[in-house]
Amino acid sequence: MKKDLGVKPYVFPMPVLMIATYGEDGAVDVMNMAWGGVCAENMVALNIDEDHKTSENIKKRGAFTLSIADVPHLKEADFFGIATGNKTPDKFERSGLHAAKSTRVDAPVVQEFPLTLECRVVELQNTSYGFRVLGEIVNVLADEAVLDEKGRVDPAKLNAFVFDQFQSGYYAVGEKVGQAWNSGAGLMKK
Ligand SMILES: Cc1cc2nc3c(=O)[nH]c(=O)nc-3n(C[C@H](O)[C@H](O)[C@H](O)COP(=O)(O)O)c2cc1C
Repeated sequence: MKKDLGVKPYVFPMPVLMIATYGEDGAVDVMNMAWGGVCAENMVALNIDEDHKTSENIKKRGAFTLSIADVPHLKEADFFGIATGNKTPDKFERSGLHAAKSTRVDAPVVQEFPLTLECRVVELQNTSYGFRVLGEIVNVLADEAVLDEKGRVDPAKLNAFVFDQFQSGYYAVGEKVGQAWNSGAGLMKK
């Protein structure tokens, strides 16, 4: 028996992405973003409120970094989704995390997050469906600790967590349950 739940943005899991930018004064800002992700091989899309400090920074600097938050820094990641750089200029300092300037784009790289996409803004979209930023991925930085012996990112080592839009929970990810383009391949032979 299925039950109608109405119109809700009920996709699961949602990512927990950390968007880091510089303000005009060089202050680091980081925000928590669930409504975004990959939209082409070398592109990401951010669906963010235009009033956020992050949006102002992106318009002025034309760049951002996007990091995967990990469980050891869950508290800080959530804080980045509560506080705003508009009202709390020392938001990033309060988190106790550290940032270094990207060598490729005009944006900070948060040192504690294990995987970071360095992105250049290529398009700002203002539609009736909201504000959207398209960014070109110019490089990916990964902590050596999250790489396997072949130099690939090992999801189990990332310690990532996802966001649940139903009840606003965070859930750790890690257990591998299959292999894409392989687990279902046997059914092709039927
Ligand atoms: C789990 C979580 C997910 C969020 N996802 C988004 C999002 O996708 N888009 C958005 O505009 N705001 C999102 N927010 C809210 C922003 O992170 C929040 O408003 C933040 O204060 C903005 O920071 P800033 O003004 O310093 O840029 C999310 C917050 C949380 C806690």
